[in-house]
Amino acid sequence: MTRPIIGWEQEQPVPDGFAFTDYLVHHGGHLHLGGVDMAQLFLAQESAVEGPEFPGPGQALPSPLEVVYLPLITRRIHEMQQMFAQVSQEVGYEGQFLYTYATKANAAEEVIRTTLKAGAHHEMSSAVDVDIARLMRQRGLLTSDRLVICNGFKGPGSSYATKIIELKDEHGLVIPVIEDLPEITPLLESGRSFSVGLRQKSYGPNRTEAEMRVANSRFGLSVDDLWKAADYIAAAPNLTLTLYHYMVGSQLADPETFLSYLKPGLELYARLKQRHPSLHIFNFGGGMPARMTLDFAFDYPAFIRLLLTTAQEVCGRYRVPVPDIMGEFGRYTTSEHGGHLFKIIAAKDNQSDHPWYIIDGSIMSSFPDSWALGEHFIVLPLNHLDKPFQQVQLGGITCDSDDVYPPKPSQSPLYLPVETDDLYIGFFSIGAYQEMLGGVRGSKHCVLPEAMELVIDKDAQGRYQLTIIHGQTEEEVLSNLGYTIA
Ligand SMILES: Cc1ncc(COP(=O)(O)O)c(C=O)c1O
Repeated sequence: MTRPIIGWEQEQPVPDGFAFTDYLVHHGGHLHLGGVDMAQLFLAQESAVEGPEFPGPGQALPSPLEVVYLPLITRRIHEMQQMFAQVSQEVGYEGQFLYTYATKANAAEEVIRTTLKAGAHHEMSSAVDVDIARLMRQRGLLTSDRLVICNGFKGPGSSYATKIIELKDEHGLVIPVIEDLPEITPLLESGRSFSVGLRQKSYGPNRTEAEMRVANSRFGLSVDDLWKAADYIAAAPNLTLTLYHYMVGSQLADPETFLSYLKPGLELYARLKQRHPSLHIFNFGGGMPARMTLDFAFDYPAFIRLLLTTAQEVCGRYRVPVPDIMGEFGRYTTSEHGGHLFKIIAAKDNQSDHPWYIIDGSIMSSFPDSWALGEHFIVLPLNHLDKPFQQVQLGGITCDSDDVYPPKPSQSPLYLPVETDDLYIGFFSIGAYQEMLGGVRGSKHCVLPEAMELVIDKDAQGRYQLTIIHGQTEEEVLSNLGYTIA
């Protein structure tokens, strides 16, 4: 059975120059993320100037610390765009590729700003998301050439439906995607002219239309309702069917499986296109896998080739033009830009199979998917990489028996340096969903205050720009819980 590789798995030190990923590299005993020495952030005297390239934050930062490395978001978006461009050229694909960021993965201002600057279209799922889009428009970041895809439930009378209609007055390229038949009415009655999408009930491993029909999913329209909705839209004077949405799952492991789930949707797209020629976008939603552990291997160009050639074959058979291809990239866009750093504050043997290393924060509330879903993330030391390692268990500072890593059912060993004096560690590839699920601000498990955040960006000349977002004070945590401090 394969098991995720979550860190260094040997007792020997890590060789100097060893690259764990294309952005996590060992140099001189320290771990560098995108060229920035992570351990150095905690060291007072040297941190004012860390080298000719990276000006430190001018102070030693406290642990725990969240690190947000925005250039990685830009890099991943551009890489995906380039791969689609290259494969499209290779196979002679005539449709466009529309990279769209799914904001549910991480709605932080710096993340949305970065995806828009990198050229992504914008996908949303709730009323507050519309407010975010409007703020981004006001700042000139959401430009009028960007598509805004509105997924999620937006029934008549909901604040989300009302706000989508208002947004349309400001931004031409808004595409509401119908999840449920009643959602068509407010758009019809708005009097505004809308391009609309239809979401097909598709979630899960359905390889045929018959399987799709009986699948148990709350998302999207059944096959029969989809045809009905397309006819309503065609009859409406102000609505135009533009997009077909067919999302099959999350973190799909290999290109062939992913494509076998998408194929029934491509068939249905082609049949719908025959009847409704205005349709031109096939949106496969989310599901594009991202590196969350060190054993990750997904052949993106192979997936793109399969997708484009299957679309060519299916559309050729139905004698319709190939669609523009849209993906809503959540995890892929934001997983890797986020790291959460901790100090080891105690090491105790406790006559356990492997010693316990205790961190100065909570694993549970920082990475909810780890304890709730048994999800794995990368964990590496920030210093002492040039010293011997041993197998250990990590424990959070809370009093909860589930606040441990690796997660309880895991078969993956975790190795960290034997030397624990001033040892810092980082959880990496935690930038998607974890912060949104754990919540921003508020009061958390065992009333631990939220960590400080260091946002690292680069300007157009490649110079680093640092922003510090202060963590919570203990008074803020108390006040959230209704305590009045005299
Ligand atoms: C409609 C829709 N689009 C996109 C996504 C993003 O998926 P992922 O993070 O796998 O890219 C999701 C995730 O739940 C979704 O529901």
